[in-house]
Amino acid sequence: MFKLQYTFVRLTSLLILFFLPSVAGSESQLPTRQKTIPAHRAADYIHAIIETDRTIYSQYIVERLGETVSLQTSENWKKTDSLPLPAQFLLMSSKLVNSKNLGIKYRLMSLWPINKNNAPQTREENEGLKKVSLRPGQPHTWTGNKNGQVFFNAIYPDLAVTKSCASCHNNHPKSPKRDFKRNDVMGGVHISFPISKMNTTSSQKNPVVTPEVVADYVHAILEADRTVYARHIVNRLQKKNIIYASENWWEENTLLLPAQFLLNASDLIKNMRLGLDYKLASLWPINPHNGAANKFESVGLERVASQPLRPYIGTLQIGKQSYFQAIYPDIAVTPACVTCHNSHPKSPKHDFKLHDVIGGIVVSIPTESN
Ligand code: HEC
Ligand code: HEC
Repeated sequence: MFKLQYTFVRLTSLLILFFLPSVAGSESQLPTRQKTIPAHRAADYIHAIIETDRTIYSQYIVERLGETVSLQTSENWKKTDSLPLPAQFLLMSSKLVNSKNLGIKYRLMSLWPINKNNAPQTREENEGLKKVSLRPGQPHTWTGNKNGQVFFNAIYPDLAVTKSCASCHNNHPKSPKRDFKRNDVMGGVHISFPISKMNTTSSQKNPVVTPEVVADYVHAILEADRTVYARHIVNRLQKKNIIYASENWWEENTLLLPAQFLLNASDLIKNMRLGLDYKLASLWPINPHNGAANKFESVGLERVASQPLRPYIGTLQIGKQSYFQAIYPDIAVTPACVTCHNSHPKSPKHDFKLHDVIGGIVVSIPTESN
């Protein structure tokens, strides 16, 4: 039923495509039909990634392991061999993303912060937090200028989804508010990124961003959350013999492998039906399900294995909806990646070396014609 059509576009040629429509093949009406993403939708995608990773961490790590093996979570996690709070997890990965200077920034904040650094820093942040407290059903958005660049801003409410959110904050000695109830808005996540300058006349009214930039943001957040998880949870607690990560994490009451953390969060994203999708893939998968699903993925995985500096990109058309796709290399950054994959009985490849490309992260994002 679906009309499946791939257009392979190398990033290096993309800039040329905007100006030389004849090179673009099926995209021959560029630049008028250049694909874009409305900024408010891009913010929804970014927020969904932050939220789903937070959900996996809160439910599959903090709550499950607290109940089954009494693994503690505490503000002083470094000193007490326990898990960081979900808020601390988010704050650590947002620092990593913000430090990359990709344009995107995000932070968790509140009108009643336990940590004063998490108070609103501008009049807009203050207003936005008030707005989402009154109307949590939708984010508060605005555009603003900074250093000659127009930024899109969105504040999403942060809700007391469990009783423990409210009780811990209510009882915390540094909390300025002591009557939070379940489902109250406790704060918000402020996301900001520069909007594209390509259609300057309408860009303030209907701000858009280019899909390759949004894919970079999505990938940066996935990477940061995975790094925080691998470094501050898995590696730290394994070294101290507190708990281990294992493939059968559910049965064994252990931590999820970093790959499983990512794959479980990606299932949640699919269930949100935003059209946004990401997955891990490899030409040498331990799990056959993670093999290349089509020609775009097999060509792209080969390309990022030999040229890992930039993602391999393309577009996909399903019915009337078009998607931008990018494959980012997934590199064996620690010896553990190498030893586990090389020694795994189901791995078809046993000679990975440190810094080799083990596979890729495939990101798909719905686009619109602009
Ligand atoms: C065990 C205690 C505890 C629990 C449970 C907890 N928090 Fe927090 N939360 C904290 C602490 C401590 C901070 C400050 C972290 C820091 O140092 O920046 C914080 C920070 C925050 C912030 C940033 C503003 C601030 O207060 O500094 C928000 C928003 C927040 N938490 C919301 C939540 C939500 C929503 C939940 C439930 C899903 C939750 N918290 C669960 C203790 C907790
Ligand atoms: C303790 C073992 C272990 C470690 C350490 C480990 N992996 Fe994996 N990895 C697995 C298993 C098992 C799967 C299959 C997960 C599934 O889909 O069920 C997997 C899946 C993957 C996949 C998807 C393709 C496939 O093989 O199924 C990639 C890519 C990947 N890992 C990369 C890495 C990288 C990069 C690191 C280091 C940062 C790493 N892995 C660390 C065990 C490990």
